[in-house]
Amino acid sequence: PMKRLTVPRIRQRKNGEPLVMLTAYTVRMAQLLDPHCDMLLVGDSLGQVIYGLPHTVAVTMEMMAAHGAAVVRGSYHAAVVVDMPFGSYEASPQQAFENASRLLKETGAAAVKMEGGRVLAPTIEFLTQRGIPVMGHVGLTPQAVNILGGYGVRGKSAEEAKSIVDDAIAVSEAGAFSLVIEGVLEPIAIEITQKVACPTIGIGASAQCDGQVLVTEDMLGLFDRVPRFVKKFGDMAQQTEEAVKQYADQVRNRTFPSADQLYQPE
Ligand code: KIV
Ligand code: NA
Repeated sequence: PMKRLTVPRIRQRKNGEPLVMLTAYTVRMAQLLDPHCDMLLVGDSLGQVIYGLPHTVAVTMEMMAAHGAAVVRGSYHAAVVVDMPFGSYEASPQQAFENASRLLKETGAAAVKMEGGRVLAPTIEFLTQRGIPVMGHVGLTPQAVNILGGYGVRGKSAEEAKSIVDDAIAVSEAGAFSLVIEGVLEPIAIEITQKVACPTIGIGASAQCDGQVLVTEDMLGLFDRVPRFVKKFGDMAQQTEEAVKQYADQVRNRTFPSADQLYQPE
């Protein structure tokens, strides 16, 4: 197997070859994505995509640990990053260390990701100094849905734009090895990318970020409702429906199974 990309080598990609990141929650998807990706994100978006939850607030440590372990088993090349679920890191650096270390131990992942800005800087510094690489996440932070009131673009006012840039700088200076910028007006993403020392990973942000991430089910056309920033690179919902329709027809008219699929006497 190929050698896994390390956190220091990801950090070195600032202003370098763009970093390719996609989400993965299951072993087979991880196997398929791994050869093409620098990083696999076990996103708490699995709450919606896998579990049908209305948002990510209800995602648990157990879910993240189980899916994180599956993705590590299915990958050899990409660095695996696991999202810290809502409620597992915000209370204190100590709480964050306990839960982040548990995720790294139980999954074998290389790093964790957490949502937030200035308020998380002491936590990011605490973890980084104690052996846990942290990826930041600023702009549209879906775990804050109950404060934000929805998933609209962030940074429309000058005040909010400045606040997001300040958050990004604080997260980077605290030691984050990279930083997701989600759902902001493009000039904000460009300014952050120019100002922070770590690579930025855009989603609904800018092609000038140091890398990009998407939810795999969204870009494959498998998930039904997707934001504006998703480009559909495939149409797996339609392909799945077509295959299932054929299967159902063939069961009903007894053309499946046929000789090829049946065990015959010697
Ligand atoms: O949970 C997730 O999938 C994410 C990415 C969309 C950045 O946080
Ligand atoms: Na997430």
